[in-house]
Amino acid sequence: KALKKSIKNLDSYTHVRGESLYVDDVNIRQGTFHAVVFDAPKAHGKIKSIDYSKAEALEGVERIFTYKDIPGKNEIGGIIADEPLFAENEVHFWGMPIALIVAETEFIARKARGLIHIEIEDLPVITTAKEAKAKGSFINAPRSFSLGDTEKAFADCHYVFEGETFSNGQEHLYIEAQGAYAEPMENGNIKITSSTQGPTAVQKTVAQVLGVAMHKIEVDVTRLGGGFGGKEDQATPWAVMAALATYHLNQSVKLILNRHDDLRMTGKRHPYESTYKIGLSKDLKILAYQTEFLQNSGAAADLSPAIAERTLFHATNSYYVPNVTTKVLSCKTNLPPNTAFRGFGGPQGMFVIESAIAKAAHEIGVPAREIQEANLLDENDTFSYGQIAKKVEAKNTWNSAKKTYNIEALEQEVADFNKNNSAFKKGLSFMPITFGISFTNTPMNHARALVHIYLDGSVGISTAAVEMGQGVNTKMMQIAADVFSIPIEKIKIETTNTTRVANTSPSAASSTADLNGKATLMACNALVERLKKVASEELNVSENNITLKEEAVFVDGKKSNVTWTSLISSAMLKRVALTENAHYATPEIHFDKTKEKGHPFAYHVYGTAITTVTVDCTRGTYVFDSVKIVHDYGKSMSEGIDLGQVEGALIQGIGWMTLEEIAYNEKGRLLSNALSTYKVPDIFSVPKSVEVIPVETEGNDMAILKSKAVGEPPLMYGIGAYFALQNAIKAFNPNYDLQFHAPMTPEKVLTGLYQK
Ligand code: GUN
Ligand code: MOS
Repeated sequence: KALKKSIKNLDSYTHVRGESLYVDDVNIRQGTFHAVVFDAPKAHGKIKSIDYSKAEALEGVERIFTYKDIPGKNEIGGIIADEPLFAENEVHFWGMPIALIVAETEFIARKARGLIHIEIEDLPVITTAKEAKAKGSFINAPRSFSLGDTEKAFADCHYVFEGETFSNGQEHLYIEAQGAYAEPMENGNIKITSSTQGPTAVQKTVAQVLGVAMHKIEVDVTRLGGGFGGKEDQATPWAVMAALATYHLNQSVKLILNRHDDLRMTGKRHPYESTYKIGLSKDLKILAYQTEFLQNSGAAADLSPAIAERTLFHATNSYYVPNVTTKVLSCKTNLPPNTAFRGFGGPQGMFVIESAIAKAAHEIGVPAREIQEANLLDENDTFSYGQIAKKVEAKNTWNSAKKTYNIEALEQEVADFNKNNSAFKKGLSFMPITFGISFTNTPMNHARALVHIYLDGSVGISTAAVEMGQGVNTKMMQIAADVFSIPIEKIKIETTNTTRVANTSPSAASSTADLNGKATLMACNALVERLKKVASEELNVSENNITLKEEAVFVDGKKSNVTWTSLISSAMLKRVALTENAHYATPEIHFDKTKEKGHPFAYHVYGTAITTVTVDCTRGTYVFDSVKIVHDYGKSMSEGIDLGQVEGALIQGIGWMTLEEIAYNEKGRLLSNALSTYKVPDIFSVPKSVEVIPVETEGNDMAILKSKAVGEPPLMYGIGAYFALQNAIKAFNPNYDLQFHAPMTPEKVLTGLYQK
């Protein structure tokens, strides 16, 4: 069968026409109320008094809800129960929700918010992970992975270097802000339309806060205007608030954050302050590596413990290091709880080892790429967490990048340019990536698909997959079209709904297409087996001789007169079930947190990026000339969609590493609170050329149709941008002492160029 790999994203038609539906586009019922969140105007303090009287008196204000109105538990924490929906007596971050104002219009609710008077007695504010560590303020116990004997290995090293790194947070900036719409159904049931990556998390948390059974809550998602991890956990509070108001008012309530509220109230990628120690042999083998990662977790756990864990999983990136000790501390601060963001702690871990390698290369006086190359992961190497590396493509992608892109010529070009130019300098870097695929929390790796064939032969598919622009619905459709051998027009991907597919994991961890795709594949295959039986009876031939092709039944490769549609009619007449529900759970994976050893990942994704940049040495500004990538797609099932994921992730990674600068003041107030003060990549900051070539590989059976997960891994190619910049600065200023403090903004580049 020929899977159609050059398929367009099925949403492209409605996207381009502006017809795609988001939460804010849902037709609202007559009488719907609109809500605005009243949040803490201080990062840490005791609430002395709140006067809602003027706000409540405003014409059009229906009611203001606080923690006192919660019938169930004032608790929305996922991994750890440490996060109230609404502050009670204390506030823990600037932007922490205190109340929900419900009014006839959003405008009135917003106006009412300005009339609330609150008095807060200041408590000490912690904004950095280091301060939190010094004060012993943590989310949970530290975690540590180790392999070999690191202490002993350092003693045998020819070179040992130590240093510190910082990587800043990152705003998700999904184009669709957080939001939800809650509607009362009969008997106290509530339906919620939510912009969430995790419909089950919303359902469960609403039920918990309202003190009702989960079956009373239905959550429906058509698609998101971007998630990037920001809606894995943090889509929940807004849905819960809307549902709480609906519960009390028996009326529909819409709550959509505006951009400013969203920026202020939601968490971001975790900033990390880290220290490393790296030891190498004379021939540049990394013999020992040790790190301490300080994760700035914010004021509540959210997903921080899981993110911290993934930092440890990726601390050695694409390298084999025989002696490793890594440790991570989730530090509790007075920032909004930081949360999942594409890569989920992996990028933060990988930035540190790349910094350590750059530092070692600088001190020894060799190009970083020699150290990188000397230590690339090989078949059967052991990761610090005990998994044995299999079907490794680290060297394959590296070597094919070198060859395909003619690295000698490229390096010569950069050297020549730097020799002949004094006002502009070029820098080049290599960035290999290795990213583990599966939720690191093994029990989350499962999914279900519910497939209906309707009596006219059209098909409807429901899964837990949430479409957020990544094209997962298109992939689900391809799978069904391939198995049934019918055109994609006959297939509809339904909304993601908790009543059709229940108890689901969020769409996250790059695993959505794998998990839901495998379930879809199983369900479709089961239906095909059933249909073959019907056809075999009808045509009086053995099932083994039957195949489905081109909307028809083929017998021994020849087209019969039984079509897809007539076959479905026959199945109906024979009372054969045309619905199938399949459950998939990733085999083989396991992890023992007491030993910090196991086999947590179904497989790894590999790749190598070569980045070149030109720095304007008068201004400190820069342009990325090119990023040349050899990427391990396995066998890509949707080439355009996967390429789009690589390109988008790369640019997002470059943004994190070079432009995007989250700033809080010492009082914990977000300074980068608008798009005028928070710079994201635009058309001028994307590389002038991006090339992506698939590495030749056999693919992996644990990936859907051998097409590997593609959502997160390529973000880490962006780390190469940081080191290309370091090299350009070095070419201009021989005194430059490498800095590992991301993002590398033009200001920092300029300072580096003229550092004495
Ligand atoms: N996003 C990326 N990786 C992960 C993971 O391992 N777990 C969860 N919950 N989300 C992720
Ligand atoms: Mo997770 S960063 O939502 O894949």
